[in-house]
Amino acid sequence: MSYTRTFVDLDKLIHDRESFDCDEPELNNFIRTQATRLMDAGISKTMVLPASVSLPNGKTPICAFYSISPTSIKREDLPDNFAKKLPRYPIPVFLLAQLAVHKEFKGLGLGKVALVNALEYFYNISAHMPAYAVVVDCLNKNAESFYLKYGFQELFKYNERSRLFIPMKQVSELFR
Ligand SMILES: CC(C)(COP(=O)(O)OP(=O)(O)OC[C@H]1O[C@@H](n2cnc3c(N)ncnc32)[C@H](O)[C@@H]1OP(=O)(O)O)[C@@H](O)C(=O)NCCC(=O)NCCS
Repeated sequence: MSYTRTFVDLDKLIHDRESFDCDEPELNNFIRTQATRLMDAGISKTMVLPASVSLPNGKTPICAFYSISPTSIKREDLPDNFAKKLPRYPIPVFLLAQLAVHKEFKGLGLGKVALVNALEYFYNISAHMPAYAVVVDCLNKNAESFYLKYGFQELFKYNERSRLFIPMKQVSELFR
């Protein structure tokens, strides 16, 4: 299986959600059963990187995906040096809710490609609707170490998972 160059909006009529497998049942379940429903409800958006060849069922396999939505954080959740410059009401941020690579492509750079694509997407949105930071919820330690590598910092821990953030100012420097 080889992949195309561009992330596109998930379309259940075109993309084969069932064959996606990243070895994480929660994320497999998300793309198979929740992503389209949440898009239809206007709650989040899922972008997929399609394979370059279709399956016998006429649909295209998904090589990687990420899912985004707006959310907010509390000023108090941020480290003091960030918090002191911010107002006391909820701080708007972009949520990178899910990101996963099909197990067939793990370790080949697609996770980095997906992350950079998502950050660029946020950067472009921020020209029209600003947000303070990008936050990610880490499924496990593995995911956490992946995001820490790219400059994310810890916001807080909950239920043994962690939420990380990267200020949009830092993201903007990548794409300006
Ligand atoms: C985590 C995940 C997205 C990484 O994707 P990937 O395609 O295997 O990663 P890449 O090949 O793009 O790796 C890019 C860089 O990150 C590093 N990296 C990959 N996984 C890492 C991890 N868990 N911890 C630290 N670094 C990691 C690679 O070594 C590579 O570094 P380099 O550029 O210096 O060589 C993928 O393994 C995955 O889908 N996991 C299951 C779902 C998941 O946990 N998602 C996280 C969000 S909840």
